[in-house]
Amino acid sequence: MPRPLPDCVRIDWPPADAEPPAATEAALDRAAGILRAGGLVAFPTETVYGLGADALDAAAVAAIFRAKGRPATNPLIVHVTDIAMARGLAAAWPAAAERIAAGLWPGPVTIVVPKTAAIPDVVTAGGPTVGLRCPDQRAVRRLIEKVGRPLAAPSANRSEAVSPTTAQHVLDGLGGRVDLILDGGPCGQGIESTVVDCTSDPPVILRPGPLTRDRLEAIVGGPVALPDASEAEIPDGGARGAGEGSPARAPGQLPRHYAPQTPLEMPADPRARVATLLAEGCRVGWLALQSDTPEVRALAARPGLVVVPMPNDPAGFARMLYATLHALDQRDLARIVVDSPPHTEAWRAIHDRLLRAATYPP
Ligand code: TXA
Ligand code: MG
Repeated sequence: MPRPLPDCVRIDWPPADAEPPAATEAALDRAAGILRAGGLVAFPTETVYGLGADALDAAAVAAIFRAKGRPATNPLIVHVTDIAMARGLAAAWPAAAERIAAGLWPGPVTIVVPKTAAIPDVVTAGGPTVGLRCPDQRAVRRLIEKVGRPLAAPSANRSEAVSPTTAQHVLDGLGGRVDLILDGGPCGQGIESTVVDCTSDPPVILRPGPLTRDRLEAIVGGPVALPDASEAEIPDGGARGAGEGSPARAPGQLPRHYAPQTPLEMPADPRARVATLLAEGCRVGWLALQSDTPEVRALAARPGLVVVPMPNDPAGFARMLYATLHALDQRDLARIVVDSPPHTEAWRAIHDRLLRAATYPP
């Protein structure tokens, strides 16, 4: 028997108001009760929707892994209200962690530090460190206060699927696997937080995100490193050498993640690739950075092609990316083609997500 679909409850908190409306307060009380009893609640953050459980309750956290189909080896991020709560969960709090938290929290950056024994091993996949994040969402911080405990929360999608940026995406992806969904509207950032390991000196960016390396270096007041493999340049494997359907890089070279159901590719010449696919009778979705050219307008008139004009700035592109992939997955397409964004630092997180989403013709 499939489990019944969860309630989806709206939470609003107008920016000018010091306190949330009564209906939001009531929704947060209900969510807090579920979390205190070991249940799972999906909630909005400024990046993507999270699937939350009491981070100090090992059984509740284990239920997150089951609901997502997530390998036990992949640690979860723990969400806190403020620096004080974070420090209470950290066995050490390096100067870089303090600078990043003081300068950028609440905000889309996760800080990895040594953990205390209070954090169950299941949260950190048995590791000695924990990723801590203070979301820029007042309602979520109020929820954490009401629970009185930090919340472990990965993105609220099945493992390897595209992260959700609306409550409807959560409902479509997880359905009855979650006890309650809090609906705060579409997420403002649209891609997952930057993850920075502050246990090493200099700190290392483990996952690029909305807060860029330049921003972090300015805040830390010194260098911030990238993992060795990505140090050299912005990954451009997707664009390099992808001709007539030839693989741009060996599949599996990067962990496949954040992927839509529809195969996605980022060829060197998207316009030619789209024309080829249409000639083969494929239905194609095209995330186009320069959609207002005569060539694209001519192609866009062809049946079987859905052109989505994408903003030509990283923040705008990020905000639309996952919602666009979720929408195109409903359109019965054979392929999604994506224009490769510029190879600059500002676009690093977008390239990272696109390369992980990409699949190639066999
Ligand atoms: O924006 C976000 O970070 C969202 C929202 C819900 O907060 N959460 C999110 O969680 O993206 P998830 O589980 O989908 O991604 C967490 C990432 C994974 O790449 C995981 O390996 C890494 O953070 N991570 C978590 N704890 C870590 C740790 N102790 N050491 C190294 N990496 C860690
Ligand atoms: Mg995720």
